[in-house]
Amino acid sequence: MSSQTNSIVADMSLAPEGHLKIDWVKAHMPVLNRIREQFEQEQPFKGLKVAISLHLEAKTAYLAKVVKAGGAEVAITGSNPLSTQDDVCAALVEDGITVFAKYNPDPKEYKELMIKTLETKPDLIIDDGGDLVTILHAERPELLAQVRGGAEETTTGILRLKALEKEGVLKFPMVAVNDAFCKYLFDNRYGTGQSVWDGINRTTNLVAAGKTVVVVGYGWCGKGVAMRAKGLGANVVVTEIDAIRAVEAYMDGFTVMPMLEAAKVGDIFVTVTGNRDVIRGEHYAVMKNGAILSNAGHFDIEVNKPELEALSNGKRVVRRNIEEYQLKDGRSIYLLAEGRLVNLAAGDGHPAEIMDMTFALQAMSLKYVNEQYEAIGAKVVNVPYDIDEQVARNKLASLGIGIDQLTAEQQAYLDSWAEH
Ligand code: NAI
Repeated sequence: MSSQTNSIVADMSLAPEGHLKIDWVKAHMPVLNRIREQFEQEQPFKGLKVAISLHLEAKTAYLAKVVKAGGAEVAITGSNPLSTQDDVCAALVEDGITVFAKYNPDPKEYKELMIKTLETKPDLIIDDGGDLVTILHAERPELLAQVRGGAEETTTGILRLKALEKEGVLKFPMVAVNDAFCKYLFDNRYGTGQSVWDGINRTTNLVAAGKTVVVVGYGWCGKGVAMRAKGLGANVVVTEIDAIRAVEAYMDGFTVMPMLEAAKVGDIFVTVTGNRDVIRGEHYAVMKNGAILSNAGHFDIEVNKPELEALSNGKRVVRRNIEEYQLKDGRSIYLLAEGRLVNLAAGDGHPAEIMDMTFALQAMSLKYVNEQYEAIGAKVVNVPYDIDEQVARNKLASLGIGIDQLTAEQQAYLDSWAEH
């Protein structure tokens, strides 16, 4: 299959810019570079086809190249209409990867591109948010038998996979990459924390210091977004539905209150719940004129757009990635990046050094599921601890940081119940 003839991308002339972007991130992904060297030697995916759906920017492109270096034939699509970068897509095609993706396709085309990716008949899958796997089960069941297994990137995708598994519908094993320590501790917390503010700051060109920032959801992503908002000098309010996480936010020094109260005081809102309608009509009704709304959760359903539209006379784009909703009572509410993941739709996503660990987990999990798919069966499984630990060790090695080892006496002490 020729990547040049089969691919669907916006503009091949953008390839040189895409290659530069991929080269830049590659230079900052030492853990993945080491895996690439291993894959080149071992060829773990020789003769296999891999379908990937991820936010299609430079770090993802490099992961696709690493999987290809392991012997696979790779087809890739985006996992969100606004996070695909056309120059990166063009570069990947030149690198021999089949690409079905362009920036901002309409919903119908977005799905068609995903189906085309599935029609390459993959043996293995890397998914982000669960679209590829759910479309495969629901609409292309004839392709299921070929699939050995795959790996899922994010919290929302794992929730969907677990629902498929619970109903007895899931047909192959999926590794829950998000739930590895080296994923959520760093990607969700530090990656989202930094890149959400990068997205908001570059999009609005406004100051965060002194403003009241409302972080909706204090999970791993929310913790990062709140921590970095505090660092920028904002007054941070957290809303939650989980009592334990609400106490955690309080102890971390944030003000906790229900959304209906937070809606009245917030200047900038960031939703990171993985849930729907966490900001909705009753909240818009009490918001300040000029409030800015953004979302960092996987789907664009956290900020209820139909209810915002119903309250508005109209909307207009006032700056790239900022829509002003003109409310019937004269107030304006601004929505960033159409309520899609603000760090990816209005930014470049997580820093390369963070995705280095996440994508190292992806690459090693894909190898693991390929070796163990028969033994695992049609289940959602965790990343094995030794893979997680290996990624951390390689990360430390790349940073030149050493750690201690247990002495024999310490190991014996920890292992015994009598010697205390
Ligand atoms: P998590 O499960 O650790 O946290 C979600 C939190 O939201 C929980 O504490 C939950 O109690 C809370 N929540 C649920 N409904 C709520 C409501 N109505 N009001 C207030 N709080 C509510 O999940 P995590 O890992 O933080 O992920 C959150 C979302 O972000 C998911 O959709 C995930 O896929 C996505 N994600 C986005 C990334 C990005 O780059 N923007 C990176 C990683 C994950």
